Amino acid sequence: IKVLYVTAEIAPYANSGGMAEVARSFPKALMATGDYEVRRVMPLYKNMDVRVKYKMDFPVPMEYGYDTCVLKTASDKNELPTYFIGNERYYYRENIYGYEDDNVRFFFFCKAVIEMLKRINYTPDIIHTNDWHTGFLPLLIKKEFPNIKSVYTIHNIAYHGYIPSTYLNDLLTDREKVLLGYPEWLDFAKAGILYSDLLTTVSPAYAKEIMSSSYGDGMSKLIESRKNEMIGILNGIDDEIYNPMRVGEVPFPYDNNSLSEKKKNREVLRKNYGLSNEDIPLVAMITRLDFSKGIELLIKTIADYGIPNYQLVLLGSGNCYYQGLLANIASEYPGTFTVDFEYTEEKAKLIYAGADIYLMPSQNEPCGLGQLYAMKYGTVPVVHPVGGLKDTVLVEKEHPEKSTGFYMSEWNSEALKEALQQAISTYKTKDWDQYRQNCMQYDSSWKSGLAEYQKYYQMLLEN
Ligand code: GLC
Repeated sequence: IKVLYVTAEIAPYANSGGMAEVARSFPKALMATGDYEVRRVMPLYKNMDVRVKYKMDFPVPMEYGYDTCVLKTASDKNELPTYFIGNERYYYRENIYGYEDDNVRFFFFCKAVIEMLKRINYTPDIIHTNDWHTGFLPLLIKKEFPNIKSVYTIHNIAYHGYIPSTYLNDLLTDREKVLLGYPEWLDFAKAGILYSDLLTTVSPAYAKEIMSSSYGDGMSKLIESRKNEMIGILNGIDDEIYNPMRVGEVPFPYDNNSLSEKKKNREVLRKNYGLSNEDIPLVAMITRLDFSKGIELLIKTIADYGIPNYQLVLLGSGNCYYQGLLANIASEYPGTFTVDFEYTEEKAKLIYAGADIYLMPSQNEPCGLGQLYAMKYGTVPVVHPVGGLKDTVLVEKEHPEKSTGFYMSEWNSEALKEALQQAISTYKTKDWDQYRQNCMQYDSSWKSGLAEYQKYYQMLLEN
């Protein structure tokens, strides 16, 4: 079965968050089953660390005429075959996103994938698209390749892109125009939700949430109307990449039988970040600096309650306003609170390995990968139980033997402080080791998610 996986970012080439990690781990896991021939396609951004081979160039019809697409492929033998859609004007910029013409940039991407399929010697059975950047592909596929089935995965319903309807003028039937909201600007995400043969999202809990109006970001009715083709499948992680035992990844590799080594990583981490107290729990957060991740809530919690009996390291980039506020707090709490705005995977791994508690106070969280990495490294998560956090962090009151973390009872600073304090008081007891063992034994591999995807892919192909 041939699957083409289409996404705006794939780690390690370009990575602004969890979607890129999934684009690295899921296709690889799918390929490893032996039943699939998987290829991937993404834009070729500037500063990408990849050795590519030139393949061809061809024109892509756009509203105003034609634009050139330069198609390259990865030459790295260890990677899955990956196509890169190149166009200097659209993609050779400092960042992946955040430009006024992101809509045109990713509309071009969708159209270029279609043109590519007409020219390469590879016709997928299934084309698996991800989030709004790829949202018009299911519709375009239906028109150009009616035999190819499409899947659209929602990684985060909050993100949309809109394109003037003139870009699709000649392409749409009257009915499509009505459904998509012509002649207003057309929403990529809406098109993906409407025209994919299968709609998925990244956890069962999030699937339910986005069908209710408070989380659905205006899309809940639409998603509900497709609830028979809509399924929440939990993301997995790649434990060849995130694994505390892997030599060379963290200073002192360890597993659940050698947790004393974890302590040595903790010392390295404390030293690197100048955290001065050896005895109090080390709490970590690795996150995009985004409102939905609970950054303002953390700031408020510190304003309301200080940082009494723990120390905190935060790694993440994003919003400059938050960077300023966090840097101020760090200067108020030297040796206790430290922030690092330059994310690298290596730093992240040392933090997962060296921290005691991992904090994830997201207001909403489609799946979340940080809590899965943390657990893998025996670092106990404290979370707001929404979306994937609810599905992956196990909490049974009075039953440490069945728990892997702690829940906030509500989304406010008091609940954040309380959940954190619960974890901190458990830290000093004998139960803590039980929590860490449970975390490390939790199965966060792609195994069950893959089985689900295989089942649904199969159903698509039989229809
Ligand atoms: C997005 C979501 C995150 C999810 C990731 C991968 O980044 O915000 O919750 O884990 O996609 O699906």
